[in-house]
Amino acid sequence: MTNPVNRQWLLARRPVGSIVPEDFSYSESTPPEPGENEVLVRSLYFGFDASQRIWLTDHGGYLPAVGVGDPIRTMGIGQVVASRHPGYAEGDLVEGFLTWQDYNIARADGPMPLRVLPRSDDMPMTWHLGVLGVGGLTAYFGVTDVLKVGPGDTVVVSAATGATGSLVAGICKAMGADRVIGIAGGAQKCRWIVEHAGYDEAIDYQSEDIGARLAELCPEGVSAYFDNVGGDMLDTLLLHMAPRGRILICGAMSSGYTDVQLQGPRNYMFICVKMLSVQGILLTFYRDRLQEGVEQMGRWIAEGKLNVAESVVEGFEHAPSLLPTLFTGKSPGKLVLKVADPV
Ligand SMILES: NC(=O)c1ccc[n+]([C@@H]2O[C@H](COP(=O)([O-])OP(=O)(O)OC[C@H]3O[C@@H](n4cnc5c(N)ncnc54)[C@H](OP(=O)(O)O)[C@@H]3O)[C@@H](O)[C@H]2O)c1
Repeated sequence: MTNPVNRQWLLARRPVGSIVPEDFSYSESTPPEPGENEVLVRSLYFGFDASQRIWLTDHGGYLPAVGVGDPIRTMGIGQVVASRHPGYAEGDLVEGFLTWQDYNIARADGPMPLRVLPRSDDMPMTWHLGVLGVGGLTAYFGVTDVLKVGPGDTVVVSAATGATGSLVAGICKAMGADRVIGIAGGAQKCRWIVEHAGYDEAIDYQSEDIGARLAELCPEGVSAYFDNVGGDMLDTLLLHMAPRGRILICGAMSSGYTDVQLQGPRNYMFICVKMLSVQGILLTFYRDRLQEGVEQMGRWIAEGKLNVAESVVEGFEHAPSLLPTLFTGKSPGKLVLKVADPV
């Protein structure tokens, strides 16, 4: 029997500014052999995350930079085809760090070990990349553990159509928040977050004055801000926070993640004079509590408290053209690429 082909998307050069097709090169090889304590995983789905753009910079961010000539790192779902690790068996479906190639060698150590997915799962497999994966669990721990949202809270969420933001309103409501306001780009997306994602109000960052709308909608100030965007939007929110308000720094989409060194907020003295609390989040810090998040999110879905949105594109060849759409506009919810079916 001939060896299967291992299709790969490699980093051809470090992108400058926005990602372009020439930043990637296509290659084929034969699947590698797993060493001791390693597993060979066949890729089924790739999830798209803005942090992938940071990993293509020289600094890499919270994980090492992807080397020029190496396959692009991604969160993904795969199937174990050979295992030399006692925690994984041939045929297991797993979720975790993969790369843009058909066959990946994975280890059980590292910041987020591969998770074995339950067999009798009645949810779509792709949800383990979205609502039960990075975006959903970051939304869960951000709202419940960092912002500690509860009754009396007026919450504002930026990038409210994203894989994370599209779930934050539902979680805030489940925790008893009074009101949740989302910020999104364009009238259609603003309508979507109110009709499908549980938001009470929407602000269109492309056509409205965010400060004026916040003054109108939150005359008492914003008690909690879930920030996915940073930049000027964060500066505006700092002016409209309530005294002792809480801010969660989850992401900085406005930067395009072309560099890890970003300009801080100009209005940062309002953190002082309003006695604000500002805290970041990184899901890897919750690696020992992921199952708690998966179970609670599952319960809220079953109770109809969360609406899950995703768009699944099919075809390995589309990976490079999908990544930049996170920054230029895509459908609401989680963006996933289907690469193969499980056996
Ligand atoms: N810290 C963590 O552990 C962690 C985990 C997950 C995600 N994150 C971060 O959370 C953020 C959102 O990620 P996601 O996966 O939820 O989103 P996503 O599904 O990748 O979608 C991107 C979102 O960003 C918005 N956006 C893009 N450019 C923008 C700009 N210039 N100004 C305002 N909004 C912009 C889009 O909104 P429109 O379509 O309305 O323009 C869209 O909602 C990212 O920064 C990501 O890095 C962090």
